[in-house]
Amino acid sequence: MYQEIKNIFQVHFDQEPLLVYSPGRINLIGEHTDYNGGFVLPAAIDKKMVVAIAENGLKTCRIYSVDFKEEFAFEIESFSPKPSHWATYIMGVVAQLQQAGYPVRGFDMVFGGDIPVGAGLSSSAALECAVGYGLSALFDFEIPRISLVHYAQKAEHTFAGVQCGIMDQFASVMGKKDYAIRLDCRTLKFEYFPIDLGDYQLMLIDTKVKHSLSESAYNTRREECEAGVKAAQKIDLAVRDLRDVSLELLERLEVSDVVKTRCKYVIEENQRVLDACEALSKGDLESFGKSVFASHQGLSQEYEVSCKELDFLVDYAKNESEILGARMMGGGFGGCTINIVNKAHVDRIKKEVRQQYQALFGRNPEFYLVSPEEGSGRIG
Ligand code: GLA
Repeated sequence: MYQEIKNIFQVHFDQEPLLVYSPGRINLIGEHTDYNGGFVLPAAIDKKMVVAIAENGLKTCRIYSVDFKEEFAFEIESFSPKPSHWATYIMGVVAQLQQAGYPVRGFDMVFGGDIPVGAGLSSSAALECAVGYGLSALFDFEIPRISLVHYAQKAEHTFAGVQCGIMDQFASVMGKKDYAIRLDCRTLKFEYFPIDLGDYQLMLIDTKVKHSLSESAYNTRREECEAGVKAAQKIDLAVRDLRDVSLELLERLEVSDVVKTRCKYVIEENQRVLDACEALSKGDLESFGKSVFASHQGLSQEYEVSCKELDFLVDYAKNESEILGARMMGGGFGGCTINIVNKAHVDRIKKEVRQQYQALFGRNPEFYLVSPEEGSGRIG
C-alpha cells in the first residue's frame, strides 16, 4: 500500500514525497462517554490512512484521493469548508494549524488506505491525524502529539460539522502495539492497558450499513447530555460533566424522560469502563465480556443509537457460547460490532453469521480480525 501511494504521487506530481500514516481505531468499551468527560478504552489498529506529501512552492494545495480517484485543489490563503466532501477533513486540519500560528505553505498530497469508510473505524479521524502528522513532519513544525489530537478533533468540529469527542483522534495518534488506552477524557490522563486475550481474539463484524441518521443523531445526543448536566448544576454547582452526576441525583432532575434515560446510560457506561478494566487486569475475560454485552444493551435500549443489523449480530453473539462479549462500536446506526471470540471457532462463527445475516438482510457482512497497533508514524 505504501509503495502504491508513493508511486501514484510520483506519477501525479513528479516528486519524491514524504510518507506518513495514521491508523483507524477500535473501542473495547466506553461509548458516547468521551464528550461527557468520561472514560474510554480504545486502541489503534492495523488499518491505516496513508498520506504522501511534498512542498510544491505554490500558493495552491493539490490533493489526489486514491480511493475516490478524484483531485481537489484549494488556495492556501483562502479556503472554506466543503461539507460531505473528503477534502473538508484536510482543509480543516490546515485551518487549525494556521490558526495555531504554523506557517503552512503550498503542498501536494496523495492519500489512501485500507480503513473501510462508514464502518465506525474512524477513517475520517485517521485522515485528519495523518494530515496533521504529515504537515508537521514536512515543515519541521514538531507539533506535540497531543496538540495534533486537538487540531484533528477541532477540524472535525469546525469543518466537518460533527461535534465529536476526543477518543478517535487520541487513539489514532497515541496508539501502542498490544495495548489499549484507558483514557480519562476530562483530564486526558491515560494509561496503556495490555490486551492479552489468551485463546480469544477481537473480531469486528461489519454490518455494511450506515443509516443516514448518524450525524444529526450524534449532535442531538450531545445536546441531551448537556441538558442533563445543566439541570444537575442547578442542584449541585460542583457538577461539570455527567461523570459527576450520580444515579440518585439523576432521579431528582427536572428533565424529560428521554434526557434521563440518555444520561442514565452514560453514567452507567462510565462505571462499566472502570469495571471492565478491572476485570481485564485480573484476566477475568468472562466479566469483561459481560460488561461489553451490557454496554450494547444500554446503547440499543437507552441511548438508542443501534439499529436492527447491529442488534441482530449482538443477539447472535449472546446465543453463542464461544463469544464472550459483543457490542456495537463507535457513533452507531451501522458500522461494526466488536466481538471477543474464541480463536478456534472464528471460522465456524464467520460462516454461520454470514449465512444468517445474508438471509435476513440480503447483504454480506465483512469480518476483520484486529489487534492493537502503533499510532501515527512516518514511513521510511
Ligand atoms: C464517534 C465520535 C467519538 C465518540 C464515538 C462514540 O466515533 O467521533 O468521539 O463519541 O462516536 O463513543
